[in-house]
Amino acid sequence: MIFDTHAHYDDEAFNKDRDELLRSLADGGVEAVVNVGASIQSTKNTLQLMKQYPFVYGAVGVHPNETGELNDHLMDWLKHVSGEKKVVAIGEIGLDYYWNEPEPEVQKYWFVRQLNLAREVKLPVIIHSRDAAKDTLDIMKAERAGEIGGVIHCFSYSVEMAREYLNMGFYLGIGGVLTFNNAKKLKEVVEYMPLDRLVLETDCPYLSPVPYRGKRNSSLNLPCVVAAVSELKGVPEEEVIAVTRENARRMYRLDANV
Ligand code: NI
Repeated sequence: MIFDTHAHYDDEAFNKDRDELLRSLADGGVEAVVNVGASIQSTKNTLQLMKQYPFVYGAVGVHPNETGELNDHLMDWLKHVSGEKKVVAIGEIGLDYYWNEPEPEVQKYWFVRQLNLAREVKLPVIIHSRDAAKDTLDIMKAERAGEIGGVIHCFSYSVEMAREYLNMGFYLGIGGVLTFNNAKKLKEVVEYMPLDRLVLETDCPYLSPVPYRGKRNSSLNLPCVVAAVSELKGVPEEEVIAVTRENARRMYRLDANV
């Protein structure tokens, strides 16, 4: 069954039918979901969802554009909740210069702090990097992020950059963007990368695959992404589902941690 490695079911876009939708995932072939924190509040909501639904796991962390809210006290709190059962990663953390908020120096500071938290608590990281390819890679190399491990979520860079992260031992998160007509660069990355480093993700409610582009996304749309990966890799869809599920469980160390 399908493993969705990155979702935001706490988003208000799901307020009307969250419970119904989450309860329908198993019938839609979705076995597990990692709900990813992007702020302190959404991390709290993630912990709640994780306790409510057996198939929902959690990642705790603060997205680069939200790092203005961080302080030492909240870092202590993140460390505390990272020890909860079913918390499988620190994330999403990183750099986002598309939204230049807060300023890059602030984003970098909290990116390094959260990488160090992951190292300390021995959890993998979920990296968000947008329009910040060089700074992200420089920091991850300087901090020896290869020893921490994890995923570059919604991978959006070149084959050369993919090679760098694959060499560090990272997984690449692939979602709805792969089905877009203008996703030439991402298709090259998927053709290039080994299937055993690819994990499926929705980033829902965002980034619905074709033919649902522009509508609210959910894990139920992942078969469209599976079909696209299957075609590019020349591997049957069932195999894409099985291999990416194994990848996700290995990446999040599910057998060891939970
Ligand atoms: Ni996300």
